[in-house]
Amino acid sequence: MTTIPLSPALVERLRDSGPILALTGAGVSAESGLATFRGPGGMWEGRDPMELATPEAFADDPHTVWRFYAWRREQAAAASPNPAHRALAELESGRDDFTLVTQNVDGLHERAGSRGVIRLHGTLWRLRCSVEGTERDDLRDDLGPLPPRCECGALLRPAVVWFGESLPEEALERAMHAARRAGVVLVAGTSSLVYPAAALPEIAQRAGAYVVEINPEETPLSALADERLAGAAGQILPAVAEAAAAASRDRS
Ligand code: OAD
Repeated sequence: MTTIPLSPALVERLRDSGPILALTGAGVSAESGLATFRGPGGMWEGRDPMELATPEAFADDPHTVWRFYAWRREQAAAASPNPAHRALAELESGRDDFTLVTQNVDGLHERAGSRGVIRLHGTLWRLRCSVEGTERDDLRDDLGPLPPRCECGALLRPAVVWFGESLPEEALERAMHAARRAGVVLVAGTSSLVYPAAALPEIAQRAGAYVVEINPEETPLSALADERLAGAAGQILPAVAEAAAAASRDRS
């Protein structure tokens, strides 16, 4: 049962406009207790991203960078998916024209049951050799205080995208493709400040999509969005998923 009324325009779009693309950011995990990056209490408050999330920082001080990511793995492991993650997993299971693109590295979408997540910024749950670039899954919560080493002897680093690094090419291409063909774009829990992820809604809109922003705060996307749902993703996305499911039933 939903308590959040959606606009008739959005309900109609969910029924008739074709593929749905969801783009998520740290705000969708806020209701799971994970800190966002920006704003009061955000992860970048009192921390310098250039000292924690760049290849140069890892080269200069691998222990400090590793400790930051070890802490984030612990936090993510202790958190549980919230209704926003679950609603997006339901959306995916209910239709074959849904794509989820996330900037999050916490793995909560996958743990909620989303299968085809396009991860633009990598994941905390993989490690990459800092020299060879080879990757391996590693789901252990606690990897210790020091970066482990690859068989080649080099340090392993988290397989996440750091400032100054390119996004994984295939993930970005698939996200762009989904943006160009989307009929509705749900942008949830992101400050829309970090590119190229922040460009996806605009690309989609230029190709004809109806862009909906779900965020309690205004962002640079707010003026461009066709609709703004000012509230928590954990309350709004279940209503959207329910409306999309009802629309699919209507169509069949
Ligand atoms: P930010 O911390 O920049 O923004 C989080 C957004 O979520 C803000 O606009 C909040 O208003 C919003 N928010 C908070 N609680 C919410 C809720 N319950 N429901 C909906 N929205 C909520 O996080 P991102 O936009 O994800 O990159 O940041 C983008 C990238 O910048 C991250 O992937 C990371 C960071 O530096 C890298 O590390 C490469």
